Amino acid sequence: MQIIICKNGEEVAKKTANLILKTIKTNKNPVLGLATGSTPLLMYKLLVEDFQQNCTSWANVITFNLDEYCGLSSNNEQSYRYYMNENLFKHINIDFSQTYLPNGNGNFKLNAEVYENQIINFGPIDLQILGIGTNGHIGFNEPGTDFNSLTHVVNLNEQTIKDNARFFNNDISQVPKQAITMGIKTILNSKVIVLMASGINKAEAIYHLVNTKPTTQWPCTALQSHDQVIIIIDKDAASLLKKS
Ligand code: GLP
Repeated sequence: MQIIICKNGEEVAKKTANLILKTIKTNKNPVLGLATGSTPLLMYKLLVEDFQQNCTSWANVITFNLDEYCGLSSNNEQSYRYYMNENLFKHINIDFSQTYLPNGNGNFKLNAEVYENQIINFGPIDLQILGIGTNGHIGFNEPGTDFNSLTHVVNLNEQTIKDNARFFNNDISQVPKQAITMGIKTILNSKVIVLMASGINKAEAIYHLVNTKPTTQWPCTALQSHDQVIIIIDKDAASLLKKS
């Protein structure tokens, strides 16, 4: 596990965006795993700026997002499909039919299986971007999730619903209670994994990611078994790590 400590969230975004650009430029048909949430927002902005200034082509890129809420339509502003379209896809020359997210409508269980098969068909994912929940979740793999899990339907736990209420007018009752997420094994099948985090509220989860023996209580600790993991974090998120 390589740990890169940056002075702030801006530097985290810049370094991660550069890794994505390198992956796009060095692979003929790059497959990217993408994340949502507030942490990658600036990174997407930098990627859009790069497209406008340097015309890096996304024409051959295939993307798979980590997760999607159940029950929100794709034009619902809180859906991850909407987030991806608005923050990245509509600003670059990507083929929309090559941008995949789990389908959060209809038969959730079946949709999860279909998604896992799509990843298998086009994968492996060359570079998977991850954020992290304050409870150590990756994607929407909540504490207690089996490390062998594939894409599946999850019941979001209380902490996650509370954390994500900020995107739903701070109204917990509006936050969907279920989501479809890549499983931990799905994530670990990626060739390279980059986890980005900033802010003091992520410090405890980062501490466990690095120091705690793998346990399902901290889903992020599953990453310790993968040999190509890069953690890009700011000083605050790194504040509980020892100097060494
Ligand atoms: C959500 C997403 C995760 C993300 C996490 C952290 O729950 N499903 O993929 O990593 O939030 O989000 P933020 O970056 O907003 O703290």
